[in-house]
Amino acid sequence: RLAQIGVTGLAVMGSNIARNFARHGHTVALHNRSIAKTDALIEAHGDEGDFIRTETMEEFVGALERPRRVLIMVKAGDPTDAVIEELANLMEPGDIIIDGGNSLYTDTIRREAAMAARNLNFVGAGISGGEEGALNGPSIMPGGPAESYESLGPLLESISAHVDGVPCCTHIGPDGSGHFVKMVHNGIEYADMQLIGEAYDLMRNVLGMEVAEIADVFREWNTGTLDSYLIEITAEVLSQVDAETGKPLVDVIVDAAGQKGTGRWTVKSALDLGIPTTGIAEAVFARALSSSTSQRESARGLVAGTTGAQAPADKAAFVEDIRKALYASKVVAYSQGFDQIAAGSAEYGWSVDPGKLATIWRGGCIIRAKFLDRIREAYAENPELPALLLAPYFRDAVEDSVESWRRVIVTATAMGVPVPAFASSLSYYDALRAERLPAALTQGLRDYFGAHTYLRVDKPGSFHTLWSGDRSEVEA
Ligand code: 6PG
Repeated sequence: RLAQIGVTGLAVMGSNIARNFARHGHTVALHNRSIAKTDALIEAHGDEGDFIRTETMEEFVGALERPRRVLIMVKAGDPTDAVIEELANLMEPGDIIIDGGNSLYTDTIRREAAMAARNLNFVGAGISGGEEGALNGPSIMPGGPAESYESLGPLLESISAHVDGVPCCTHIGPDGSGHFVKMVHNGIEYADMQLIGEAYDLMRNVLGMEVAEIADVFREWNTGTLDSYLIEITAEVLSQVDAETGKPLVDVIVDAAGQKGTGRWTVKSALDLGIPTTGIAEAVFARALSSSTSQRESARGLVAGTTGAQAPADKAAFVEDIRKALYASKVVAYSQGFDQIAAGSAEYGWSVDPGKLATIWRGGCIIRAKFLDRIREAYAENPELPALLLAPYFRDAVEDSVESWRRVIVTATAMGVPVPAFASSLSYYDALRAERLPAALTQGLRDYFGAHTYLRVDKPGSFHTLWSGDRSEVEA
């Protein structure tokens, strides 16, 4: 018998995906650098489906039906390159190599080109959903050649999450597009988590609420428009009590957030593309600040905090304000993320369909949310949407939230509670809808010191003012 799919790299994500394939009736060839992991998987879960145990790469490749399909689940970067090279040397034209790790999309573009030159199909596939999703149905974002999706698509769709019977897996576009959208997914994940963190902090440090009470608020929010995986697990994490101390677990966890790089990549790419993804950027910077341990140590309690402002008297009303501020900020973060995807797609000629993307993010992935259905609808209604924020549903939702949003930021600022993502999202919204921006002054200054010229509102052409001369205007 031959396997429909091979999985190499059997750490938790790889093992769980392999089991997911097997549970869906596919024969799965297993490979890992050290055989111990392969044996452990077969020992613990061999009865879940049909696995083929292989020891060497040659044996592994030989165990696959053609076109061969191999999913690589190893660490992004050099280890992935090494495995690709090993596989490519053993594979034949038409075979498919899938990289399911969190690879940088520019690496994927490079690898796809190198494999295409050897007549191999290379598919960079973003896979989201963590360990649990890998086992029970992730959201899968495969890029690469469209032909490869014909043979690969049904296999991936069978193990993906499904929402309303629709698989959370679709061909995203050529070469690096799958990993690009996964990167932005993670950026949005960062923004979502930062916004949730700020909402929590406001309840804690403006309203003085207990952790358990805050958990209840998130549980309640999860029944409405904010219904999402991250809100759901926020309630779980906040409900957890530390066995050793009896305190809320969140109070014994060191408040320094880690990051493995995908958020940072998103922001770097946004800078290159010229797309203001301020929500994601604030989230990345907030993690960096939280981890600036020694600086924080030196600054702690140093500066007199606040204006002596009082917490709002009506707690319930302010919690509702926070909910609305969170929702509006979330709309901004997604709108910015989708802008970045549109810009990346245009830059690389990928033709990524934002509606399809929203559809496969409805389930399986970390940012799965009710909300994604609204995004899908918005693009279905108007595929040429200039910005998600401007879709009627979201425009109305934000308009309905804006007073709450302002109140939250004013109060937080007066009381010295940091709300970088809430505040920058509101500033973005205010800038986007502004009649005039101070960019006109920026242009005047640039022209003054560098003769960079400016455009006029009332006639065509570029102009320069002779600042060091008689200050008359000349056409540039
Ligand atoms: C997912 C997650 C996953 C991983 C993040 C965590 O979609 O399943 O995004 O890819 O958990 O990369 O990233 P940080 O360690 O940078 O927070």
